Amino acid sequence: MRLVVTGAAGFIGSHLCDRLLAAGHEVVGIDGYVPFYPREMKERNLAGARTSSKFQLHETLIEKAKNLESILEGSAAVYHLAAQAGVRASWGDDFAGYVEHNVLGTQKLLEAAANAKVPRLIYASSSSVYGDVNELPLREGMALSPVSPYGVTKLAAEHLVHLYGKANALSVTSLRFFTVYGPRQRPDMAFHRFLKAVRDSQPITLYGDGEQTRDFTFIADLVDVLECSLVQGRPGLVYNVGGGQRISVLKVLEAIASVTGREVRIDRQEGQKGDMRDTLADTAQAARDLGFIPKTPLATGLKAEWEWICS
Ligand code: NAD
Ligand code: UGA
Repeated sequence: MRLVVTGAAGFIGSHLCDRLLAAGHEVVGIDGYVPFYPREMKERNLAGARTSSKFQLHETLIEKAKNLESILEGSAAVYHLAAQAGVRASWGDDFAGYVEHNVLGTQKLLEAAANAKVPRLIYASSSSVYGDVNELPLREGMALSPVSPYGVTKLAAEHLVHLYGKANALSVTSLRFFTVYGPRQRPDMAFHRFLKAVRDSQPITLYGDGEQTRDFTFIADLVDVLECSLVQGRPGLVYNVGGGQRISVLKVLEAIASVTGREVRIDRQEGQKGDMRDTLADTAQAARDLGFIPKTPLATGLKAEWEWICS
């Protein structure tokens, strides 16, 4: 199949491109190299994909693209992963970028997908759409009340995706990813920062009391479910994708000490505005419709990211 991946040069997008190419698909990547982190890292992410004759990359911001419809024409599906990510950086003046890339970019892509008669679109939504609720695990049907401006833009885009799905012959699925980690993880994210600090014998920065919890998801498990969602899943539904258990940041630091065999020194900083306190995905719906079962234990996933950080 000819498949489009937006955000192809990013952490998750590049892994998805590798997987789709390995499965024999033709992959058309779109990435505007948003300067949230260095271009060299994104070029390294794409090094494998670029060796394939079945891969091409369009370097453009979606919202600025002139020829989006022609890029999409003839594609069996679009994976929409392009976004300005990062929860804690989404306040203040930087919010404009979140609106442009996440909301305006998504609407432009949806118009083009509908006009180009692309039959299927899979959207990378986020656990950040939930916000702080008193009940865990987080279920897809719960009321949504994001606590970060980033979460607001991811939710707005999710609404747009489902609205365009209903209004057109476009089968849409949103997957709400829960804090993804592994090789190529973005440099603003916790595990990347922690492992790099440990490698360089520096203290790690801990925000808040460290008792906040996350349902961390290993990249290969996420890519498994992304691949399945090409042909499985009920059109119009939203699915949580999480690692299967929640763990506190303090416990993560213990796991890092054990995996790396190094001392972990902590520099405590204030809790950050926009951070959810706890996340845990109810993945029953994804298990039922997409056959999703997270397989990677935290220690295994951390080891893989540690080896990548040290390489
Ligand atoms: P990333 O920053 O590594 O990748 C995103 C890529 O999209 C970047 O290469 C960037 O240049 C590109 N991009 C951004 N806006 C664009 C636009 N308007 N037009 C063209 N290219 C654009 O981020 P990631 O961690 O790989 O996240 C991928 C997706 O998954 C995002 O939509 C993010 O919101 C979502 N998500 C990520 C996580 C996580 O834990 N990493 C969790 C939940 C949801
Ligand atoms: C992650 C991604 O960055 C978002 O793009 C994504 O949308 C979100 O997951 C999601 O699941 O929807 P976050 O959970 O904040 O966001 O992921 P991390 O950066 O890995 O942070 C995890 C925890 O570690 C947070 O509580 C954070 O405050 C803490 N942290 C992070 C630190 O204590 N120190 C750091 O240096 C970085």
